[in-house]
Amino acid sequence: MGRVTASAPGKCILFGEHAVVYGQPAVAVAIEQRISVSIETLGSASESWKINGMQFEPKRHPHVQALRNRLWQPQQGAPNLIIRINGDIPPASGLGSSAALSVAASAALRTARGRWFNKVDASLKIESWAEGYSSQFENEKLYSIEDQEINARREGDFGSAKHYVADQSVVDEDECALLAHAVEAVAQGGRASPMDASTCAHGGIILLSDVLESQEEYLYTRRLKMPEGERVWHLHSIDLPKSTEEVFLVIGNTGVHAPTSHQVDKVAATIEAHPERMKEIETIGMIARRGIQSLREGDYAAVGRAMSENQIMLQGLGVSCPELENLIRAAAPTSLGAKLTGAGGGGCMVALTTNPKQTSEAIELAGGRTLISKFGNVGLSIDETENLPLWATQPDA
Ligand code: MEV
Repeated sequence: MGRVTASAPGKCILFGEHAVVYGQPAVAVAIEQRISVSIETLGSASESWKINGMQFEPKRHPHVQALRNRLWQPQQGAPNLIIRINGDIPPASGLGSSAALSVAASAALRTARGRWFNKVDASLKIESWAEGYSSQFENEKLYSIEDQEINARREGDFGSAKHYVADQSVVDEDECALLAHAVEAVAQGGRASPMDASTCAHGGIILLSDVLESQEEYLYTRRLKMPEGERVWHLHSIDLPKSTEEVFLVIGNTGVHAPTSHQVDKVAATIEAHPERMKEIETIGMIARRGIQSLREGDYAAVGRAMSENQIMLQGLGVSCPELENLIRAAAPTSLGAKLTGAGGGGCMVALTTNPKQTSEAIELAGGRTLISKFGNVGLSIDETENLPLWATQPDA
């Protein structure tokens, strides 16, 4: 029996949540906390899928179901799986637990099934993929919110599938980020930015922008047709300048669960009812731009100020809550700035601080559970493989 374990970090948004869904710039950081997904084939073909010892129910695990339809299609002969999910990212708290799960699961499933290439030489370049998803291909079907199997086969530039590779070298961060974005979009009713998915896949610090940023490393461009029209995001990876100051993120969890989809719907309903409130979304974009410039300059006092201004706008949009504001107030005296992080309505706040211990104690005293994270943690990783492939696909699978 084969096994693959993969993991991915959670994320924390410094600027721009919600506004990024409408194409405004935003920045997110991969945190130290991770989710790990382990998959194993079942001994008997008649047993059904299991997740953490329970029978798999697609409605309870929409992300896994959407990934199964894209990478592990039962009708094409994919064997049933046992999935184990572990980790220290609290669920439904704005720290990207579902994106980290989707990224880790995509990486595990891709490793488990290998990849066909339409060229025999050892180069695993995207141009010779005979199957898979990439920002370099058309991906409209991938984002379909109908619950149906999708075949990832492509007519490559070099003809039909010829060469099969079944090891972890076939894992591609762009593919995992793209799949995770598509399944987030399914789970959020068609409205989702690629921020969580790409930060959890690539790690480090990710900047989404409405323009190509010449000062940052360009990753790719994502497009999504949302109910309000097509959105375009250019994704970049940011390298922070060396700073004499050591800064940390202290994350405070209110313990209040707030599903992202409800919060995203709430903002969409507000804008639909009052189109003039799009101005507030644009203001968040302006604050994010200022914060990004301060990050580039290593001016953390200014980064903190931009975070606190961003919070005022989020409050106005109606996505904060008393529990978040209580923790943000508690963090203020010892931090450079603080705001909610993620979709809001509960979940977590984040403080930027040079005194992580003091800030963490203040948040805990106010009733929050804290996590401390540095900047710039690694993205997805394949942590274990045994007896690959778990599904030896046929060239036309
Ligand atoms: C959720 O972590 C961030 C939101 O901006 C939604 C999204 O970007 O898809 C609220």
